[in-house]
Amino acid sequence: MTTGSVQDQLLAEQRAYYSALAPDYLDQGLELPGGAELADALDAFRPEGSVLELACGPGVWTRQLLRHASDVTAVDASREMLAIAASLVPDGAPVRFVEADLFTWEPDRRYDVVFMGFWLSHVPAERLESFWALVAAALAPRGRVFFADDGYRTPEELIEGPASSTIQRRTPDGTAYRIVKVPHEPADLERRLRELGWDITVTPTAGPFFWGAGNRAGGASPG
Ligand SMILES: C[S@@+](CC[C@H](N)C(=O)[O-])C[C@H]1O[C@@H](n2cnc3c(N)ncnc32)[C@H](O)[C@@H]1O
Repeated sequence: MTTGSVQDQLLAEQRAYYSALAPDYLDQGLELPGGAELADALDAFRPEGSVLELACGPGVWTRQLLRHASDVTAVDASREMLAIAASLVPDGAPVRFVEADLFTWEPDRRYDVVFMGFWLSHVPAERLESFWALVAAALAPRGRVFFADDGYRTPEELIEGPASSTIQRRTPDGTAYRIVKVPHEPADLERRLRELGWDITVTPTAGPFFWGAGNRAGGASPG
């Protein structure tokens, strides 16, 4: 078996995990310091215009984006997550939900803002560059990016040890799934994104969370 197909299997398991977790996802939030700062940072960023939300899950951020955006396209691989998100946005809200695998999906238009909530840490390091090429392809010339994330992993999740980004999570019924969780350090992530041609400031919060805001190097201002 090639490395590619091993990773494809892992990414399929990650998709299956979130679909299985969907009914319980909203009860599983990390009750850790720093979370509220992320929402404040997103409001201060003002995600205005047409917004693309990648890996929207059950739509917690979608509703916050709608406070600023003229329209939101929200993409996720999980039909179950998308159904919850669709049920939680207000009737008539300008949202288009798209069921797609972000490792193969290609945007059909460009956006003023690309937003990702707790997604970047689930992108394997080997796919980071191609993933950010997708973000670039989705952005209008002066488009901006905002992401929120964390590198939080419990000792029992580290089935391959702390150096591996493959961890194990369980749904509430005890079923185990392998997923990707890259423990990005804000300063290292900022440097890596600079290497990939992005001018994104990554800001840690009081707890394990961080957020990033910026644009293509030489593009628009993040604020
Ligand atoms: C940690 S959740 C984040 C959900 C939401 N953004 C939030 O912050 O609450 C990760 C999301 O990624 C989605 N996902 C996993 N693999 C995916 C893939 N290959 N393509 C698109 N979405 C995927 C899952 O269905 C899940 O909704």
